[in-house]
Amino acid sequence: MRMTSAIRSILSRAPVVPVLTIDDAERAVGVAQALVAGGLATLEVTLRTPAALRAIRAIRDAVPAAIVGAGTVIDHDQLQAAVTAGSQFIVSPGYSAALCAAGVALGVPMLPGVATASELMAALAAGLDTLKFFPAEQAGGVAMLRALAAPFPAVQFCPTGGIDLERAPQYLGLPNVLAVGMSSVAPVDRIAAADFEAITLLARRAAALPRGVAR
Ligand code: 3PG
Repeated sequence: MRMTSAIRSILSRAPVVPVLTIDDAERAVGVAQALVAGGLATLEVTLRTPAALRAIRAIRDAVPAAIVGAGTVIDHDQLQAAVTAGSQFIVSPGYSAALCAAGVALGVPMLPGVATASELMAALAAGLDTLKFFPAEQAGGVAMLRALAAPFPAVQFCPTGGIDLERAPQYLGLPNVLAVGMSSVAPVDRIAAADFEAITLLARRAAALPRGVAR
């Protein structure tokens, strides 16, 4: 499967991709099971904590229904470590041609972030037509994505940054949005409290959000 088809298929599983910050790897499996139980199978674990790589490995080993990716991947060492830990896709806050080429060479689907038409064109030139739009709210939100759809109708986005359950439907109604990323579906304090029931309830709400265009 071509890399772009692979990332589209991963993002099409559910309308929301939880963006997880996991401080204690012991919590990872419980969080992932709670999210999958609520209908969210595609998960992004940000490499912002020392526990992140162990969390990814634990989820890969114990929650086969989840598709787990690494987020906040900004350099080659992180990319390699994330793939070694079992990451099934890679999310980056920005676009780096070198990083994306390295990811493609490793055979892992890449979801780089863009915030401008120029960054988008650089990604397109590298064959990537499925992109994170980051930071979504700060970079122009729904209006910016609408504007980008005209010159770039073939590009699909996963907007992330400042999007919560209330704002998500506006994004999901756009024809160029496959899914949205959000951290608030698995709040850090609920993870710390091992309140997996609360996380499943939030996931259910997120999974039930309608997407505007049939794909
Ligand atoms: C991130 O990388 O932190 C994402 O942008 C999550 O954004 P959010 O916390 O605003 O959902």
